Amino acid sequence: MSERKILLLGTGGTIAGKAQDAAQAVGYRAAEIGVAELIGGLLGIKALEGVMVEAVQLAQVDSKDMNWSIWRSLLAQCLSAMDDPQVHAIVITHGTDTLEETGWFLAALLEARKPVVLTCAMRPATALLSDGPQNLLDSLCVAASGGRPGVWFVAAGKVFAAESVQKVHPYRLDAFSSYELGVCGFVEEQTVRWCSAGMPPRMPVPLHDASSGRAVQVPVASASSLFDLEALPWVEVVFSAALADGRQVEALVAAGVRGIVVAGSGNASVHEQLEAALSEARKRGVWVWYASRCLEGVPVAGRCLGPAISESDHQALAIGLVPSKARIAMMLGLVAREAG
Ligand code: SIN
Repeated sequence: MSERKILLLGTGGTIAGKAQDAAQAVGYRAAEIGVAELIGGLLGIKALEGVMVEAVQLAQVDSKDMNWSIWRSLLAQCLSAMDDPQVHAIVITHGTDTLEETGWFLAALLEARKPVVLTCAMRPATALLSDGPQNLLDSLCVAASGGRPGVWFVAAGKVFAAESVQKVHPYRLDAFSSYELGVCGFVEEQTVRWCSAGMPPRMPVPLHDASSGRAVQVPVASASSLFDLEALPWVEVVFSAALADGRQVEALVAAGVRGIVVAGSGNASVHEQLEAALSEARKRGVWVWYASRCLEGVPVAGRCLGPAISESDHQALAIGLVPSKARIAMMLGLVAREAG
């Protein structure tokens, strides 16, 4: 059997973290150990027979500091591997803290004709019971097993669609969930058991236009249009909450923000004082989208939204996107709008 080549891209995170002693699972420095070293201990494992791993250290960061330059390189590497017949699949090691955003970004931009698997660890590589080696092995098994193109995320024996997964716990090993969208598969003793058919759904950016009552799609920028950008457009998330007011929005608009995602309460409802400031922001051309602080369900269209909403006003309800992902979607939507 010919060897299956997997491109392993290291970006840092706790999976590459180092503590002063093996008992430390929380006090450590992320992004210290090279990805070639992480893979070193796994290559003799029987499940990886016939697999050739090419390790590339793309970055070495704590993912709280994820930046545009790393995303751009990651996208470029993934695009080129998609077209390289030698590459069977891609595995990416990443910190847990912003993995859900990188996952959404790649899922939105890649026509994933091969498996792209993100993985991570909650404990540093030096911990007594580090979860990194198992997660990396499971990811390689998902990547090598073939037949499931798409952008996936693997940790704690579970496979999720990268576009929907979220970090839901600060230190538990089983720290991720896609809530109602559920788990797509399990990795058990190096065997992948899928429980969903086919690829993860490839999402357009789903918005609800409350004035027409219809779902509309905001175009996402093409991957190729991103490479010349120095930065993605500036978009922030603001929370609606008890005692909220408009000062944060006013300050953002004065500083030149391009778009705001509101993490509304419940059904994407917004405090009246905050809403007044958002309405002013819209008049100045700032995009405003509404998502929900609720972790399950999606906001039901057309309720609690104040003035009429239409895509042309750049005011819309972001259906099915949590605020962190809606923020990246809006950045890509702004790029597409400018390009078009
Ligand atoms: C990070 O996100 O890089 C640090 C935290 C982690 O990976 O768990």
